Amino acid sequence: KIPLIIDCDPGTDDAVAILLANSCPHIDLLALTPVAGNSSYTYTSDNAVRLAGFMGGGCRVAKGAERALIFDGLAGYQNKDDIHGGHGMAGVLIENRAGAKQEDKFAWDVIYEEALAHPGELVIAAIGPLTNIAITLLKHPDIRHYVKRIYMMGGSATTGNVSPYAEFNVWVDPHACDIVFKSGIPVTMVGLNATRHAEFTLEEFEQLTDTPCAITFLLAAINKFIKEILRQGRRWDLIMHDAITVGALIDPDMVKTAPYYVTCETESSQSIGQTVVDRGGHLGRTPNVDVAMYVDKARFKDMLQKMIAFYR
Ligand code: BDR
Ligand code: CA
Repeated sequence: KIPLIIDCDPGTDDAVAILLANSCPHIDLLALTPVAGNSSYTYTSDNAVRLAGFMGGGCRVAKGAERALIFDGLAGYQNKDDIHGGHGMAGVLIENRAGAKQEDKFAWDVIYEEALAHPGELVIAAIGPLTNIAITLLKHPDIRHYVKRIYMMGGSATTGNVSPYAEFNVWVDPHACDIVFKSGIPVTMVGLNATRHAEFTLEEFEQLTDTPCAITFLLAAINKFIKEILRQGRRWDLIMHDAITVGALIDPDMVKTAPYYVTCETESSQSIGQTVVDRGGHLGRTPNVDVAMYVDKARFKDMLQKMIAFYR
């Protein structure tokens, strides 16, 4: 089994990603480490506890970072609690069936503890802003010897979604992303250029929602929330970025990656949060990131169907 920690900001597609990992027989979901992002920390951490309880209480939930390290992209959001709808979860209060509780330990210490317990094996799915991971690297620099790989949802080899250049997770805490890219830990970056290959139509999303199972209530609420956003003429990409990223570690053949030298822009006011992928090899540097360039949408849909069968 793959020992896995999901660092997350649930968040609707985070919730699907977490439920997907939980449904996979060859994943051992050790912990959720919440961070502020899709909603304020109060909600993302409460949603993480609720998800852990919904899944049976077998995975730990640590305390995470409430704001970014230096530049804080969320500071510019007026309604940050509503990015993913009420409670950061399309208005849904997920039932904490097993009475899961948040530990009185910080994410950076829990991640380090689990890395020591699973040396060379631990995989981290980082599907929110990278603040918790960066603090872990700063506080416990030797962790780089123990983590097998970080799969991060973030960045883009092409265009962004909060600015022409920047993707949301990286933009919320660009300095944290910079620390992760320089860490020496193998990183797979599943950015927008890749996740856009698995964009759904409303009909495709509704097909998932229509199948009765233990998580239909959540999928239906997400569907309703997205429809309302679209009805108001606001922008919403029907892409489950985070679930795709967890899918990539479950089934590496679902994505095609290429090794590139990647840095994160932390200075420029115009392009702060851009992940600069040196596709042309101009800088002559050794690649530090495996960049996802393609996602097999059919394979991803198949994976979601299997998840639904698990919760039926
Ligand atoms: C990322 O930002 C969040 O809204 C999603 O949960 C995903 O992690 C996509 O840019
Ligand atoms: Ca997320």
